[in-house]
Amino acid sequence: MEFSEAYPEGARPKRIVISPAEPVQSVIKPSWQYMFKLSDPKYPEQFWAELIAYQIGLLLNIPVPPSHAAFDSMTGECGSLSEWFYEEGEDVFYAAGYFFYREIRGFDKEKGSQHNLLTAQQLNVDFIGSDQIYEFWSMMLFDSIIGNTDRHQENWGYLLNLSPNSKSVARRKRENYSVRLRFAPWFDNGTSLGYQIIPRKFEQWDDTRLDNFIKKGCHHIRFSMDNLTQIGHLESMEFIAKHNTAVRSLLLRKLKAFDMDKFRQTVLQLVGLPMPAHARLTQSRAEFIIRLTLRRIEMITDKLHEHN
Ligand SMILES: Nc1ncnc2c1ncn2[C@@H]1O[C@H](COP(=O)(O)OP(=O)(O)O)[C@@H](O)[C@H]1O
Ligand SMILES: [Mg+2]
Repeated sequence: MEFSEAYPEGARPKRIVISPAEPVQSVIKPSWQYMFKLSDPKYPEQFWAELIAYQIGLLLNIPVPPSHAAFDSMTGECGSLSEWFYEEGEDVFYAAGYFFYREIRGFDKEKGSQHNLLTAQQLNVDFIGSDQIYEFWSMMLFDSIIGNTDRHQENWGYLLNLSPNSKSVARRKRENYSVRLRFAPWFDNGTSLGYQIIPRKFEQWDDTRLDNFIKKGCHHIRFSMDNLTQIGHLESMEFIAKHNTAVRSLLLRKLKAFDMDKFRQTVLQLVGLPMPAHARLTQSRAEFIIRLTLRRIEMITDKLHEHN
């Protein structure tokens, strides 16, 4: 990888890097931009959450930018390497926040305390159409499964594609360009999977404690401008099951197709990866993440089944 400038956006230190024209690893796209993101120094193993979340995205068939474990031999830093999810010059990325700030006067950008489902739904329908609800709620399912608490208005968004119209279309529509919007893949998934739980505590987690942890988990997003409470991970699944049976069926299908054995294997394989000692994925963390995720899936499935 070649390293370039620091990237100012977002909370954690990170920089843009460019892959070589002939990468050694087959998973690396040649001559492509990547985001190298370091863990919060308080939680040196946090970057594993980003990688495992990507693997969960794959198993659920939900678009997440490919994310790999990375080590900078120059500085000794470890982190996750996230494949750039669009081609510069081809698409433009707009974070959802851009539109929330225009829509809601006095939006609190710091906390995102007006980031809400109802406004999101209105924007999504406007920009993408009514079918977007399946994609949006696939993300809500994904976030509930990984226990993501940080999908704020800057952590999802739209890709805008401008393509020139043919002369005849341009004449008829009186537009030289067609605009198409779609969801960007769901990026920044590392505030999840119990990353904040410190290693020597894992044995102390009995089943009740695990369930209580899961029950407490919340999305960042609120219900609506009239109800600015954050929606719980499990609560969100109950909510959609109640309000949209078609989405509920899709989510249940995704859960059913989730290959638990493959998930287990994939996570356990990461344990062997060579990394500086303080940043290795330990066997006990890997096992804890597996246990946590499988229990989340169980509880989410129950919530979706409660409403039929
Ligand atoms: N793979 C990627 N492709 C394109 N843009 C990215 C990618 N990863 C991050 N970004 C951009 O960088 C910003 C910060 O990255 P993010 O993963 O959200 O880190 P942080 O945890 O610091 O918020 C994002 O809001 C997005 O604009
Ligand atoms: Mg972010």
